Amino acid sequence: MTLPAKGPPVPKLPDMKTVSDRDVTEQTVEAAALNNHLVSQLEQSGRITSPEIAAAFRATPRHLFVQDVELAQAYRDDYHPTDRDGDGRLLSSVSAPWLVAQMLEYLRPQPGNSVLEIGSGGYNAALLHQLVGDAGAVTSIDIDPAVTSRASRCLQTAGLEDAVRVLTGDGAHGVPDAAPYDRIEVTVQAAAIEQTWLDQLAPGGVLVVPLRVRGLGRLVALTPDGEGHWSGGGWLPCGFVAMRGEAASSTQMHALTPGARVRVDGSQQLDTEALTKALDTTGTPRWSGVEVSTSEGTRPVVDLWCASVLDAYGTLLTDPQTSALRALPGGTPLTWNADATTATYVTMRPVPGHTDRYEYGVVLHGEDASLADALVESLREWNRDHRGRPGPVLHVYSEGTDPAAMAPGRALERPGAPLVLTWPKD
Ligand SMILES: C[S@@+](CC[C@H](N)C(=O)[O-])C[C@H]1O[C@@H](n2cnc3c(N)ncnc32)[C@H](O)[C@@H]1O
Repeated sequence: MTLPAKGPPVPKLPDMKTVSDRDVTEQTVEAAALNNHLVSQLEQSGRITSPEIAAAFRATPRHLFVQDVELAQAYRDDYHPTDRDGDGRLLSSVSAPWLVAQMLEYLRPQPGNSVLEIGSGGYNAALLHQLVGDAGAVTSIDIDPAVTSRASRCLQTAGLEDAVRVLTGDGAHGVPDAAPYDRIEVTVQAAAIEQTWLDQLAPGGVLVVPLRVRGLGRLVALTPDGEGHWSGGGWLPCGFVAMRGEAASSTQMHALTPGARVRVDGSQQLDTEALTKALDTTGTPRWSGVEVSTSEGTRPVVDLWCASVLDAYGTLLTDPQTSALRALPGGTPLTWNADATTATYVTMRPVPGHTDRYEYGVVLHGEDASLADALVESLREWNRDHRGRPGPVLHVYSEGTDPAAMAPGRALERPGAPLVLTWPKD
């Protein structure tokens, strides 16, 4: 008989399979609880309104697509950066759940649809697969090979490698081999609507794009509206990484007086020296009588209105510590006359006796008072004819369309398909 050796008992080696299965199960249960909580939040805030989209979110574990953070972080309603350039500028991310949800609400993919996603991350493609089902098809393209290989890895972990086709290339060209698509979802900020996207959209299809409108980031959903014509709206304010590749175009940021900068779209001409001189003069406010409450959230639509009615348009951004100018938080519409010797920007003042009511006005710098008068008048026009309505309609035409055949409105100068903004009164 062999006596057992003396000494401390040797710990039994764990059954690795059992331990990892249990860990995985616990993680899965915790992830499902966190995901449920996130989806409930998105429903309560109105970001998700359709049961199909809520179900797709519940069925898609986000932590499999943002694997390098704590489980709880993966289910926060926040974007997850995946790539930055040498200056720290974001090049790629897995978008924030609220934005992913809103884009899907705009897109409304149906079972059996063929969908093209431009800009990959894995997570949104997985949600798209849930929505279109096995009878549908999801193609995702990204210009950055590091992004597509990461997205493919995540999709594989989720068991979806055969459900989503991931390609590397410039999404400005779409993906012609699988066209037409019932839905095209652009998940990167575009300065233009590419003719290829329109050409690859099926009749009755939906194209969703975070479009830059004179420097303002807005989400739009477009549908075909007759031969060579697409139209739509939506206008959710949203920030996205800018498109790279052939269709790359950027906004310009110019320094003006100390602590003040102006952001203009790439095509907007600007004499910064003259404008700085104008803004250095004493400003005089003019008030419109247009009162709004903070809960109405009118700022994004007023910005868009100003971007539509003003020929010279930029967004003035100021640092309250160092600038004498008083841009509204997040930036204010700014306009200037032909030689930039007079400038005017939108402002607000509290309505006496109220904590949540403000009056729109403008501040005039320079001698051409007609600039301020016209802007005040157009704020009144917005209030009279457009307040509380859905906002403008974006009309998109095939390249080469005769401008005389287009809706009368603000033509947005850019390459690609011609774009016109109109503001219907009813
Ligand atoms: C916000 S991320 C996409 C998020 C993703 N859809 C998700 O699931 O959360 C935007 C992506 O667009 C990509 N991108 C930029 N320019 C592009 C282009 N011309 N064609 C395709 N992808 C582009 C970037 O590399 C980046 O990965």
